[in-house]
Amino acid sequence: MRVNCKIVVIAVCFGVFLLLYFFGGNAADEPPLKEVEEDNSYQSSYELGNKVASKLIIKSHDELHVPPKQQLTERSKERKVINIGRNVNAKSRPRADARRPVSRHARGEEIMHLAVVTCGNRLDETLTMVKSALLFSIKKIKFHIFAEDPLASQFEKELNQWPRAVSAKFQYSIYPITFSVGNAEEWKKLFKPCAAQRLFLPVILKEVDSLLYVDTDVLFLRPMDAIWAFLKAFNSTQLAAMAPEHEIPKIGWYSRFARHPFYGVTGVNSGVMLMNLTRIRSTLFENSMIPGGLSWENLLHPLYQKYKNHITWGDQDLLNIIFHYNPECIYIFPCQWNYRPDHCMYGSNCKGAEDEGVSILHGNRGVYHDDKQPAFKVVYDAIHDFPFEDNLFQSLFYPLQTKFLETVNTLCGRLPQVFLKQVEKTMRTMYEKKVVHRGKPPQK
Ligand SMILES: *[C@@H]1O[C@H](CO)[C@@H](O)[C@H](O)[C@H]1NC(C)=O
Ligand SMILES: *[C@@H]1O[C@H](CO)[C@@H](O)[C@H](O)[C@H]1NC(C)=O
Repeated sequence: MRVNCKIVVIAVCFGVFLLLYFFGGNAADEPPLKEVEEDNSYQSSYELGNKVASKLIIKSHDELHVPPKQQLTERSKERKVINIGRNVNAKSRPRADARRPVSRHARGEEIMHLAVVTCGNRLDETLTMVKSALLFSIKKIKFHIFAEDPLASQFEKELNQWPRAVSAKFQYSIYPITFSVGNAEEWKKLFKPCAAQRLFLPVILKEVDSLLYVDTDVLFLRPMDAIWAFLKAFNSTQLAAMAPEHEIPKIGWYSRFARHPFYGVTGVNSGVMLMNLTRIRSTLFENSMIPGGLSWENLLHPLYQKYKNHITWGDQDLLNIIFHYNPECIYIFPCQWNYRPDHCMYGSNCKGAEDEGVSILHGNRGVYHDDKQPAFKVVYDAIHDFPFEDNLFQSLFYPLQTKFLETVNTLCGRLPQVFLKQVEKTMRTMYEKKVVHRGKPPQK
């Protein structure tokens, strides 16, 4: 009898537990759907907008130039856009959202900031970089484009012609080239026209917390979100992240020729540079001139004065000098995040790219525009020629793969997986999302 009672009690407890579990489990699935529905109503998105706004006050006043209501419409517009290249079925969109965790909505969307400096005839190249960032990225991007005069209006014209589905995924500001300290003409001459501008980003973009700076000849083969995530991996003293200038000291430029201090064994390359501007603005940097350190803003000009006769690569050399004296401030990411001809033209020396493929391609030495390294050029051409609204696999990846096979006899084309592995993975992820999304039978 007693035993029976016990069994009944246990069974009842178990039943209650199952019920709780079931409801609890369901509850965990439900709210996002509700939230998405609510999001579309004015009230709650407005609240959400406010939440985002208050977050942005701390982070960036920039976004606040958009009045809350407008922000709202932009935000809901954005929600209707999935990744470019899918034939978006607007009705099924909320379901895709619904499967995401709650927190993503509740916290509001973080905006990624991407800065580029462009002069001369770099319009097309820069637009292709911007396009590659937009094709694969998940979070919204704000572009900060520093451009010489005739270019600025051309940019605006081109960007405004992009399809609506694309323009909902980004915002942009165009700025003139300006130098806050020292002699502007001297700074402009320092490197390629206007490249020294990047040193002044922390001073000019005072409202931006963090950004990714890239050269115009950079292409994203993977969502920008992935490199953005390195910002969160910084320890308490790190404020910038770059890749080594070279993998092999014996053939690296700095290790052989530099007549000034530089970071680490081979120096760093500044073509892809993550910066926590908030930290850069609040840090005193050690240097060889003034004990106790100088703020970034006050450091640049004396540093330039001291080293100008010893530097070859302009502002990248200044960055190397700064991080030589402040090594605890830099985070080094591996070469597949800034993959250059140097990584393959003397034989393959970027292990990370061999293993997982290139994440960010950096076609310096003008390789997108001549025939010296066709492996780089075919990637550039594929992205450049991709018609925005088409299927990514059909109109980007397959043609790229076919063209790439023609380069396998060149030094850089020898290992196709280096160039193709990551981009294929990116495409596959996007494609699978679409198939799951479409192929799923309507529930209940
Ligand atoms: C940048 O650093 C500041 C100050 O440490 C921090 O509050 C902020 O969250 C950092 N930004 C990112 C994107 O990690
Ligand atoms: C952060 O990392 C850098 C290099 O990886 C190191 O030099 C520095 O000491 C670290 N900072 C802290 C506070 O641990």
